[in-house]
Amino acid sequence: MHREDMDEFVEQVTAQSDLLQTVQSYVPLKRKGNRYWGCCPFHGEKTPSFSVVPDKGFFYCFGCHAGGNVFKFLSLIENITYFEAIKLQAEKLGIPMPQRQKTPQEIARDKEIADLRKVNEMARDFYHNCLTLTRLGEPGKAYFTSRAISAETIAEFKLGFAPHAWDKLSTAFLKRGVKQELLLSDGLAAERQNGGGIYDRFRNRIIIPIADERGRVVGFGGRVLDDSTPKYLNTPETVLFNKRRILFGLDRANRAIKQAGYAIVVEGYMDAISVFSAGVKNVVASLGTAFTAEHCKLLLRYAPAIYFCYDSDDAGQKATIRALSIVQGTGATVRVIVVPDGKDPDEYIRKHGAEAFQQLVKKALPLVEYRLQYVLKNFDHDSLEGKVKALHAMLPVLTGIREPAVLGEYIKRLSQALLLDEGIVRDEFRRFGHQPLPEDSGAVQREPIRQAVRRTDTALQRAGRIVIRLAFQDAGILAHFATMVPLNDVSDEPQREILLALQELAAQGKNSNDTEMANKLSETAMAELSRAMVEDLGVLSETEAYSNAVRVLRKAYLNMRYVEHSQRAAELARQGDTAYVAELNQAQKIKSEMEELQFE
Ligand code: GTP
Ligand code: MN
Repeated sequence: MHREDMDEFVEQVTAQSDLLQTVQSYVPLKRKGNRYWGCCPFHGEKTPSFSVVPDKGFFYCFGCHAGGNVFKFLSLIENITYFEAIKLQAEKLGIPMPQRQKTPQEIARDKEIADLRKVNEMARDFYHNCLTLTRLGEPGKAYFTSRAISAETIAEFKLGFAPHAWDKLSTAFLKRGVKQELLLSDGLAAERQNGGGIYDRFRNRIIIPIADERGRVVGFGGRVLDDSTPKYLNTPETVLFNKRRILFGLDRANRAIKQAGYAIVVEGYMDAISVFSAGVKNVVASLGTAFTAEHCKLLLRYAPAIYFCYDSDDAGQKATIRALSIVQGTGATVRVIVVPDGKDPDEYIRKHGAEAFQQLVKKALPLVEYRLQYVLKNFDHDSLEGKVKALHAMLPVLTGIREPAVLGEYIKRLSQALLLDEGIVRDEFRRFGHQPLPEDSGAVQREPIRQAVRRTDTALQRAGRIVIRLAFQDAGILAHFATMVPLNDVSDEPQREILLALQELAAQGKNSNDTEMANKLSETAMAELSRAMVEDLGVLSETEAYSNAVRVLRKAYLNMRYVEHSQRAAELARQGDTAYVAELNQAQKIKSEMEELQFE
């Protein structure tokens, strides 16, 4: 498919989409003026803070700050990607997607995938029926009973049993017309060594069907009934089954994950099943492989936070640390649920009950805290060498802390625990992160000033949104604003991102439109843009609102420059450098402009 075809397709879908109608098919709305209000479907609330402005084509929730255009709405509510939302909307509107002709190979592959899915579904039912309906299932039933797994849980997860025989499934499926190659490529059967025929892969094991996030069965896990090995046998890697990408339970957990705002990740399916049955439904398990970046990405589609709850043995702790390093840097918030006394979550729940486990979840440790406890426990910090190692193990997580006060606190605790001078710890941290600590920074840094300005006033952010709203509609306004405040110096990060994106579009001679912007912007920035579009200006006309906003922002900008120059002057003066005079002059000039603005 050509790029132009695609652009045209998206344009067409956009043009024919009706935001109001789309939203109303999910959320009841009430009209007030040119705006519609309802209870936000993305966070629990009783009084409406979710609003739609059809003229502008944007929705925005003043409670949870979700916002965007019609596709963004669909992607959030249907839990699909932005592009999938466009396709879904196209389907609803009956607009055909421009198609490239599929190659014969692609057609064959599509068919194979469809066939594999069907056979998997058949196999899930076969094992489940064998467990629940036949005499061959007795040993499986006894096993589940011994682990206190209820009939409801068996039904919920469609758990099953593979009978104690060589080819029950193979024979039944061949008889039903399933091709032998399909059973082989699906990993349900294997070829007999000495010629002729196939035999079942899973025999005399309880069976746990594994689905992808949309609930389609992609493989199976089978557990022995006793202590023999291997304890677990999984479907081998197939076209459908890729352990690095699949999280067990995600199809059932995704709504709960969204609601809770975090996902709990456990090591084993039995843990996930147990935790789920204990009423904690936002749980998934990685399939006996380490937690991967792909797993992380998958979960972040549903919630911004991940809680790891691995076994409390050594291997489990190591796996936790490994998983944490995968997640760090993705922007996800991470916590660790610590299961006491050598247990995995399943054993813990069986011994102490669901309530006790829910308490553990409440007490989940923030990443840094967990890491600190781990480091203090696992590094011999009596020797100087050990201290240094422990310190270095802590540095990567320390650099992830945003709040200076929290960071200072951890540095203090770390130095006390390691009996190291706090100054040394700070020096190491600086060397590691190439960034000075806020409270004792020598040089003047641009970033801290920017942050200080950002935090002082939401009036600034409001002003920024007014500018954005008008700049979105009129590139001339954007150009004017850029002469008053260099866009790179706009203090609020999402707003800066929006304005720079608008500038880029203008430079390419394109009109700003929401689809284009949605492609360019981060989530936060897109939400901010939507908010700017739907926010009420009060009684002011747009021009009045704009000129007030510019004044506010210009003043903040000048103030930032003023602080910069003064600090620089002070520093130069301290070093006996006469260049400080020029800096002072600059600062003075800025100050007088600020005073003039005061009287305007
Ligand atoms: P139970 O003993 O049934 O409670 O299992 P568990 O959930 O405590 O399992 P364990 O902590 O031993 O292992 C966690 C996960 O690793 C399992 O869910 C499997 O996915 C995987 N695993 C464990 N043992 C084996 C094995 O022998 N072979 C394979 N392929 N995977 C295994
Ligand atoms: Mn276990």
